[in-house]
Amino acid sequence: MTHLLYTYLTNENNDSFFADAQNNFSEEFINKISKYKRWEDAKATVLGRLLLAYGLKHFYDYDLEQLKMRYSKDKKPYLEDSTIQFNISHSKELIVCAITSLGEIGVDVEKINELNIDDFKGQFSSLEYRRMHNSKNVLESFYHHWTQKEAIVKAHGSGLNIPLNSFEINNNNAIIENKQYFLKEIVLNSQYKCNVATQNILSDNVMELTGLTSKLLTDFGSSNSLKSFR
Ligand SMILES: CC(C)(COP(=O)(O)OP(=O)(O)OC[C@H]1O[C@@H](n2cnc3c(N)ncnc32)[C@H](O)[C@@H]1OP(=O)(O)O)[C@@H](O)C(=O)NCCC(=O)NCCS
Repeated sequence: MTHLLYTYLTNENNDSFFADAQNNFSEEFINKISKYKRWEDAKATVLGRLLLAYGLKHFYDYDLEQLKMRYSKDKKPYLEDSTIQFNISHSKELIVCAITSLGEIGVDVEKINELNIDDFKGQFSSLEYRRMHNSKNVLESFYHHWTQKEAIVKAHGSGLNIPLNSFEINNNNAIIENKQYFLKEIVLNSQYKCNVATQNILSDNVMELTGLTSKLLTDFGSSNSLKSFR
């Protein structure tokens, strides 16, 4: 089973939110988020970890105190000694966390903002670029393609160290370094595009969506040990 958990950023109760985070998370994690200049980035990063903790506990019966969170050389966070994989993404107010027991996973969310897609032409194959230009809503199509590509490089784990134009997406799948990834669009909000990439085809009945409030996540964080989160 694969789960996608999501929440929205608000500026409510920021003081108590960060005070709770300071008590509940590891010193290493608090040092990391204290370097962010914008409270939005710090809060979104904490909310991403809270979504992960909630999902692991509720859907995978995971013992959070035993959790060993590590980072790959390309900075992808993962769980050591576990078959469960996850990935987090945030854009503006929306934060998502995908968790699965079915192999590698990557997720990307982006808020749709006006831009000139020609500025990004070099990131796409000529077929992908034509497809975007020929679509009814070019901007939405751009964000669809962009989040597809980012979800794939995040599932693979190399992040932007793999050029987005080095692979082509066809029929919702792509191959990078002999590994095939499947894509699924997740519709959470009409102002955002969200795509998930996995090593296995996701059909509707194996992807469960769970929306959680920041209040519920904060309460959850206060009543669970999150010291192993980094
Ligand atoms: C991973 C990457 C594609 C993120 O894209 P983005 O759209 O800016 O950000 P998103 O919100 O979608 O994702 C951020 C999350 O991805 C995860 N992540 C970080 N590196 C990752 C990687 N290599 N692969 C997969 N996921 C990664 C983290 O959980 C991060 O959230 P957190 O910091 O709150 O934990 C991009 O930052 C990247 O390529 N990083 C790796 C290479 C690198 O470090 N480059 C330095 C740039 S100068």
